Amino acid sequence: MKPDSAAHESAHLHVSGEATYIDDIAEIAGTAHCALGLSTQAHAILTTVDLQNVRNSPGVIAVLTAGDIPGVNDCGPIIHDDPVLAQGEVFYIGQPIFAVVAETREQAQRAARLGQIEYRPLPAILTPRAAHAAHDYVLPPISLTRGEPEQKLKASARQLSGTFDIGGQEQFYLEGQIAYVIPKEDGCFHVHSSTQHPTEMQHVVCHLLNLRAHQVVVEMRRMGGGFGGKESQSALFCAVAALAAWKIKRPVKLRPDRDDDMMITGKRHCFAYDYAVGFDNQGRINAAKIDMITRAGFSADLSGPVATRALCHFDNAYFLSDVTINAFNGKTNTQSNTAFRGFGGPQGAIAIEYILDDIARELKMDPLDVRMTNFYGTHDRNVTPYGQPVKDNVIHELVAELVETSDYRQRRRAVSDFNQSNTILKKGLYLTPVKFGISFNVKHFNQAGALVHVYTDGSVLVNHGGTEMGQGLNTKVCQVVARELGISLNQVRATAADTSKVANTSATAASTGSDLNGKAAQNAAAQIRQRLTTLAATLLQSEPEQIEFSGNHITAGARRMRFTELVQKAYEERIQLWSDGFYKTPDLSWDKDTLTGSPFYYFAYGAAVSEVVVDTLTGEWKLLRGDLLHDAGTSINPAIDIGQVEGAYIQGMGWLTTEELCWDQNGKLTTHAPSTYKIPATHDCPDLLNTTLFSNPNGVDTVLRSKAVGEPPLLLPFSVFFAIRDAIAQAGQQNISPPLQAPATPEAILAAIRAVKGI
Ligand code: MTE
Ligand code: MOS
Repeated sequence: MKPDSAAHESAHLHVSGEATYIDDIAEIAGTAHCALGLSTQAHAILTTVDLQNVRNSPGVIAVLTAGDIPGVNDCGPIIHDDPVLAQGEVFYIGQPIFAVVAETREQAQRAARLGQIEYRPLPAILTPRAAHAAHDYVLPPISLTRGEPEQKLKASARQLSGTFDIGGQEQFYLEGQIAYVIPKEDGCFHVHSSTQHPTEMQHVVCHLLNLRAHQVVVEMRRMGGGFGGKESQSALFCAVAALAAWKIKRPVKLRPDRDDDMMITGKRHCFAYDYAVGFDNQGRINAAKIDMITRAGFSADLSGPVATRALCHFDNAYFLSDVTINAFNGKTNTQSNTAFRGFGGPQGAIAIEYILDDIARELKMDPLDVRMTNFYGTHDRNVTPYGQPVKDNVIHELVAELVETSDYRQRRRAVSDFNQSNTILKKGLYLTPVKFGISFNVKHFNQAGALVHVYTDGSVLVNHGGTEMGQGLNTKVCQVVARELGISLNQVRATAADTSKVANTSATAASTGSDLNGKAAQNAAAQIRQRLTTLAATLLQSEPEQIEFSGNHITAGARRMRFTELVQKAYEERIQLWSDGFYKTPDLSWDKDTLTGSPFYYFAYGAAVSEVVVDTLTGEWKLLRGDLLHDAGTSINPAIDIGQVEGAYIQGMGWLTTEELCWDQNGKLTTHAPSTYKIPATHDCPDLLNTTLFSNPNGVDTVLRSKAVGEPPLLLPFSVFFAIRDAIAQAGQQNISPPLQAPATPEAILAAIRAVKGI
C-alpha cells in the first residue's frame, strides 16, 4: 500500500456498525415522529383535503398543511417554485400535501395514509419530448453556437442525424433522507440533516419559520451516501421536521421509508437528444448540432446548472470547431430532478460519444481511431465551444497508455474472431475517454472555510465547510493538515460539518470538496505553523527558514523537539493555537448570458476499456473485464481515489444498463424500491477490474497538486454501454447502428438486436 493510502477515517466504524448516522443519534425524551401524506394525482387541483381521520388516528399529535407555515412555503434552491407542502394544486404523484406528527414513527406512517383528498384532474405532461412539443419548460432554454455549424454541416463530405434517449437514475443512497430537529431556548433550532449542503438547509428553515440564520444550527457528521440527491432535496425533510418541531415545541424526526423517499425526491435527469453531424472520410467532425431535452420534473430545482453542465460537457475530449448546443429543461409532472454525480456532465458527454459511435460504424473504422482524430490538440484545436482554452490536455498520453496496458488492439482482434465463430453470444470491446471540468459554474460557490484547533496535548481537531458522504473528504482534509504540521494522521480528527463553526458554506458538490476545503484547512494549519515556527526558531536557536515540521518533531539542523512540547510551550507563551482558514478558487470567469468564459479551474481526464458478452437470444449480458486509467493529479490518497474511480464506474454502469425508472400512464413512478429498481451488486462487477491512477501532478496550484475525483470517473462506464452496442451490431449487418437506448436492459438490448437484424 502507498504511504498516503490511509484508511477512511471512519472505516473501522463503518464495518463495525458504530458509525453514527442521524437515525442512530440517541433520541431526546419527547421526540415525536413525522410522516408525509402524498399526492396520488400527477396534476390536479385539490378540491377537498379532509384530514379528520388522520387527526383521530392513534398517537397523532398534530397535522400540518401549507397553511401552518408561518414564513415562506418553499424549498427550491435557486428558483422559488418548490412548495414544501402543496397549496391548492399538486404537480406530481408523490408530492407531499400534508404532514402528520405522532408519538411513534409507525403511528405517523399509518395516519399519513388516512387523508381523504379529492382532486380535480388537470392535463399532465409526462415525458420530456411531450414537454418540448408543448414548449413547456421549467426555465428558459439555453443555447450556444460557435462558428458556422449550418454551413459547415452542408459542406461536409458525410452527414448523419439521429435521435436517442438516455434514462435517469435514482441516487439510491444507503441512508435515506432524514432530518431530526430539536427546538432550543429562545426560539432557536438545532437541525440534524443528512445533507450535502448544511448552509442551504439553514436558509430553508429560516425562511420557513421567519428566523434569522443565527437561530438555526445545522449539523452533519456523515451521510450514508448523497450522490447529489442530498444537495437540495434534503431541504423538504428539514423544512417539514422544523415546522413540526416549531409547532409542537418538541424534537421531531422525519425519516421517510425507501418507497416514499423514491416517490418524493428527484433523480438524475433523463435526456432525449436530436443530433446532426457533418464529418470527413477520416471521421473528423466538421460541424455538430444537438438538442438536449431533459426531464426536469415539476420545478426548477438544480435543472438550470444541470443543463449548463451538460452543455459544457458535450465536447467531452473532442475539439468541435463549429457547433450548436441547445438545452431544454422539459417541465414534466414528475419528481423534480436534481443533482446526481456528474451533474448533467455525463448526459452531455455521452451524446458526443453516441455520435462518434455512429460515425465509426458509418465509416467502418475502429471507434477509437475516430475518437483520436477528434481529440483536443495540445497547441491548436484546444478551445472549448464555450471559449475556455484546454491547457492541461493529457488525453493523448493517457489513452496511449491505456491502449498499451489493456492490450486494446490485440483484444479487439480476439473479440472479432470470437464473434465470427459464435452466432448467439456476441462480444463487444470499447474504449471511451473522459475530460471533465472542475469548479462550480457559479463563481461565488468556489470558496471554503475551515477551523483548525491544536490542543495542548498536541492533538488536532479540524472543522471545515465540506460534508462527508463516504467519499473520504474528511480523511483527505486530515491528511492535508497532518502534512502541513508534520504530524501523524492519527493526531488529527475531523468534526461534523456545523453551520455555527464555518459559516456560509457551499454545497459539497461538483467534486470540489477536497479542492476547496483541503485548501482552506491547509491555510488554517499554515497560519498555526507560521506562529509555531517563530517560537521554535527561538527555542532551537536557529533561523525560521531552518525550521522543519515532520515526523511529529520540529527540527533545525541537528536540534529538535517534539511537536507536543512545542505546542505546550506555545500555550505558555500565549500564542494562538487555533486558526481559521479560507480559500477561493482563482482565475474563474463565466458569463451566464453568453454561456462563455473559463468556468473550470482545470480538467480531470480518464479512459476506460470495457469488454462485454451479450446473449443475443435473451438480451442478458455480462461485463467481463474493465481497465480504468484515471487522472487524480497527485493523489492525496490513492486508495480512496481508486475507490472513487471504481465506485463511479460501477455506479455509472448501473445508470446505463440495469437501473430503469418507469412511470405508468398516470405518471406514477412504479419503480420505487429495490424490488423493482436494480442497482449493480457485487456479482455485476467484472472478475477482472484493473484500476490505475494516471501519474500527472495538477498543473495548477490545487491542494498538494491533486485533482477532484468524485464525479469524473462516472463517465468511464460509457465504455460498457458502447461495448454492448458494439456486440449488438455484430448480431446483424454491421454497418447498421443499433438504436440502443439507455438503460440497456435486456428488453432494450433485444429491441436493438431486432432492429439490426431487420426483424
Ligand atoms: N462517494 C461516496 N462514497 N458517496 C457519495 O455520496 N458522492 C459523489 C462523489 N463520490 C458520493 C461519492 C458526488 S455526487 C460528489 S459531487 C462528490 O463525491 C462530492 O465529494 P468531493 O467533492 O469531496 O469529491
Ligand atoms: Mo455531486 S452531483 O455534485 O453532489
